[in-house]
Amino acid sequence: MHEVLANLPTDKTELYQLLEKQLRSLLEGETDLIANTANMAALLYHSLPGLNWAGFYFRQGDVLVLGPFQGQPACVRIPLGKGVCGMAAKERKTLVVPNVHEFPGHIACDAASKSEIVVPLIKNNQVLGVLDLDSPNAERFEEVDRAGLEQLVEVLKSQIG
Ligand code: SME
Repeated sequence: MHEVLANLPTDKTELYQLLEKQLRSLLEGETDLIANTANMAALLYHSLPGLNWAGFYFRQGDVLVLGPFQGQPACVRIPLGKGVCGMAAKERKTLVVPNVHEFPGHIACDAASKSEIVVPLIKNNQVLGVLDLDSPNAERFEEVDRAGLEQLVEVLKSQIG
């Protein structure tokens, strides 16, 4: 069974390189969407410092529905275009929100969240859903996180049927 390393690099670029290797080995030989997103949520939640939520929403028509995650229970349905998740899905691009209280329409699932990043999952030109990470620290996510998480989402997309 996979174990998350105790001594993770403090340099973010090195950490994302390590996580990419770990994710590849975790998903190897498996194409089930729920299993793979569940393991990816657990890997990210336990490896990236300063998170209070890490998980997925999957698109069903015009709505995002809660998928596998780690953290406090969360809102189940988010219409496309609403909140950070719905906006990232609608605009088909990663959204980095340094201060969620300044994002119009932010949906507060966990009152502790102060910053957020949402990466859309787009395959064959279809938005399958989003990866959402929340932090209790303001300005937790920066360019290196965007690049690192988008690369991890590429690994996931290459492993789902
Ligand atoms: N804050 C998100 C909602 C999902 S939770 O953070 C888990 C949003 O505004 O879309």
